[in-house]
Amino acid sequence: MEPSGILIKGGKVVNEDCSVIGDVYIENGKIVEVGLNLLIPAGVRVIDATDKLVIPGGIDTHTHMELAFMGTKAVDDFHIGTKVKKEMETLAKERGVNSFKMFMAYKDVFMLADSELYAAFSQCKEIGAIAQVHAENGDLIAEGAKKMLALGITGPEGHELCRPEEVEAEATLRAVTIAHAVNCPLYVVHVMSKSAAKVVSEARRDGRVVFGEPIAAGLGTDGTHYWNKEWAHAAGFVMGPPLRPDPSTPGYLMDLLANDDLSVTGTDNCTFSVCQKALGKDDFTKIPNGVNGVEDRMSVIWEKGVHSGKMDENRFVAVTSSNAAKIFNFYPQKGRIAKNSDADVVIWDPKLTRKISAKTHHQAVDYNIFEGMECHGVPVITISRGKVVYEAGQLKVSPGHGRFIHRKPFSEFVYKRVKQRQQVGKPTAVTREPYQGKVISI
Ligand code: URP
Ligand code: ZN
Ligand code: ZN
Repeated sequence: MEPSGILIKGGKVVNEDCSVIGDVYIENGKIVEVGLNLLIPAGVRVIDATDKLVIPGGIDTHTHMELAFMGTKAVDDFHIGTKVKKEMETLAKERGVNSFKMFMAYKDVFMLADSELYAAFSQCKEIGAIAQVHAENGDLIAEGAKKMLALGITGPEGHELCRPEEVEAEATLRAVTIAHAVNCPLYVVHVMSKSAAKVVSEARRDGRVVFGEPIAAGLGTDGTHYWNKEWAHAAGFVMGPPLRPDPSTPGYLMDLLANDDLSVTGTDNCTFSVCQKALGKDDFTKIPNGVNGVEDRMSVIWEKGVHSGKMDENRFVAVTSSNAAKIFNFYPQKGRIAKNSDADVVIWDPKLTRKISAKTHHQAVDYNIFEGMECHGVPVITISRGKVVYEAGQLKVSPGHGRFIHRKPFSEFVYKRVKQRQQVGKPTAVTREPYQGKVISI
């Protein structure tokens, strides 16, 4: 039997706004106390966290477990999805779902026209949800793909060539414009290019309520892999929007993330093993889109963000958990180490290093896009709702431990400004005397 209480002693407790040396006492899945020299009942487990960081459990904003997609199914499990107007309202009011992802890509499958986006964004605003978009111009992708195949380009490089950066940037700006027209907050998922990131950043500087989500893949690797001579290697990186061949892209996205032009990090984890990717061995348009990330996100962001000196440990916490919890409306239940918060805690050793490899990862997929990457920053112990679920390289959790978090609509972090604008920003008609002159007859 595991003891019911856990005392994490002497670590540096890191939240988004400050870091302090202290103890964290956990009982019944909750953080009971944070402070120094806590009086603790006998028989609890004591974890020494001297020289380590104690950070809130990461929140991955974007995954597709078990997604049925492009003729096959993602190999890492668990996925939820839905659509249509009345169901959106029921989900937001009764089922704790406060965000909806809309696609501007995948023509003839998921792609929505501008008028449909307008209607969906309007409904999101009405019910207090966050409109999320996959921003790529699906029509241009379809035309670009035909062009590449006609040129005899059938390999994974065709995937990037048929949808260059501007295809992503144009759709991002269009989504920002439509969201602004209906005063709806917008969340752009998987921002993959410099050009799209600039659009998000400009929109924020123009005062728009827009959030951009770079993902582990885009921050940790790049699109030069599509030109790799080995087909399986190149195909492993195929996802939409694609990783970009400009090798300065990951660093640029990290700079924007560090400076709050981009807000949160996900992974878009959507994994297909090599034999599934091989559905597109003769035609890149048939390669199932998606890459891994869920296991390595924290390490990749620490390495490229904190170890590189671009962001501090507090910004790391903000972009890996706190901001997500605020946007999706479950802060400070999650995303903070504080009294009464859920005991989702990672004991993080910033000095340890590890090498990422498919040979040692816990995911079902049979390759890893970060293969060989040496990362500073290693999770030593992970606690989920008071239970140690990872320790000494071993997973200690059985299926079913995860819980759905009921999320209320109208997150204040997102909606305060929107509501105020709604009140003060209403256009009004000019008062005039009626026109008395002639009107032609038609
Ligand atoms: O390639 C990707 N991103 N696969 C997952 C589905 C999506 O578009 O997010
Ligand atoms: Zn997407
Ligand atoms: Zn996705």
